[in-house]
Amino acid sequence: MSAAPARPPAPHAPGAHDPAPLDPDALATAARAQLARNDVGTFVKPAERQYPHQWNWDAALVALGLSAHAPERARDEVRTLLRGAWSSGMVPHILYPHGASDYRPDPDAWRTAGRHPHGLPTSGLSQPPVLATCLRRMHDRAPDEQRPAWRAFLRETYPAVLAWHRWWHEARDPDRTGLACLVHPWESGSDDAPRFDAALAAVPPLATLPFARADRTHVAAAERPSDDDYARYLALVARYADLGWDDAAVVAHAPFRVEDPFLIAVLHRADADLAAIADLLGEPRDAIDGWRAATTAAYPQLWDPTQGRYAARDARTGRPLPHAGFAGLAALWGRLAPTSVADAFADDLRAADGRYRHPTVDPDAAPFQPRRYWRGPVWIVVNWMLADGFAAYGHDDVATRLRDDALALVARRGFFEHYDPGDGTPGGAAGFSWSAALTLDLLRSDGAPTPRAEA
Ligand code: SER
Repeated sequence: MSAAPARPPAPHAPGAHDPAPLDPDALATAARAQLARNDVGTFVKPAERQYPHQWNWDAALVALGLSAHAPERARDEVRTLLRGAWSSGMVPHILYPHGASDYRPDPDAWRTAGRHPHGLPTSGLSQPPVLATCLRRMHDRAPDEQRPAWRAFLRETYPAVLAWHRWWHEARDPDRTGLACLVHPWESGSDDAPRFDAALAAVPPLATLPFARADRTHVAAAERPSDDDYARYLALVARYADLGWDDAAVVAHAPFRVEDPFLIAVLHRADADLAAIADLLGEPRDAIDGWRAATTAAYPQLWDPTQGRYAARDARTGRPLPHAGFAGLAALWGRLAPTSVADAFADDLRAADGRYRHPTVDPDAAPFQPRRYWRGPVWIVVNWMLADGFAAYGHDDVATRLRDDALALVARRGFFEHYDPGDGTPGGAAGFSWSAALTLDLLRSDGAPTPRAEA
């Protein structure tokens, strides 16, 4: 099964100043080779050196990338991830199947021993639940002869994925508001995004970091979160470990509790995909429909008219948080925006300056830093999600621009963690798996139908 696209991407992506034509076959070959290089057998590392363990949403996206050319390997990626599930249903954000490395925090720092049913070392937090969406896409796009194997795999994984979604909707939303909360920026997958700054500032930092930051030996310090961020990230981990990672206690006593428009949109979209999987398997979907109805009703509360975006909300104070950035548009991925809002977002993008779409933070906003992690750079996953979202609302020109910019960046600069939106300079971790995996999906999706938003 080849990952060759239905049509080649635009040879000269609009806005990209390097007119060299893209070769989709060469790009797909390079992407498959990158995934193979990062494959340690039972999982694919998110990056060659910076991230040597298995991360939750990286694994789902990697599986999607592998699914066309290595379907059994893709299924094993998901099996490894789901073996990490706790008995509560929570699927951790980091699994350490091979124990410690130079990555920090190391397994012991989490103090999660005894929490995992089979003693696998894991973190105590979760991450954006893109898995159900990826599973549905892997099944739906498979050639006919592979459908039975994918269907059997949906059956195999359904209980664990359903339990994980239930964990989000119950443990992380004990009052059933329809808005699941995050208790750590790491759970958003977009760690140092400015939308968390004000809530994180209220967290008392550790006086000294308990370890040396190896993350800054593999990646320039200017492209990583600050020491001040880390002092608060680690203070939160220590607090939750002191509470024994008990879900009710963690949420009740969390020094950081945020309703995040990105996480909630990802969960809501994944609920829709899980409902479709339930239908396919003949499983009841009442619980999932209930979660979807609650989130649909509650999500408009996150609208912040001053930003013209859906904003994160500090659940401890009830206040909206500034600097929504890309998360403010994630309602498109979740199909949670009214058409009028989607149209306004599309007009904003058409009018925006800058060479490469879509910067994760508005370049006019004070915290914007074009090369620091989630404080401004372009991330392939964000373009992938927003392209899907704009296409679903009928803004194909914007969707094409986002896809073409993503493909231009990986083709010309390689598979990096992120890219400067001004000149495309790559940054963060080199050899970054999901940039390769999503390249394969973007090439494969080109011309494939995107499920439409309900008006
Ligand atoms: N993204 C985090 C890191 O940079 C952990 O989830 O290490």
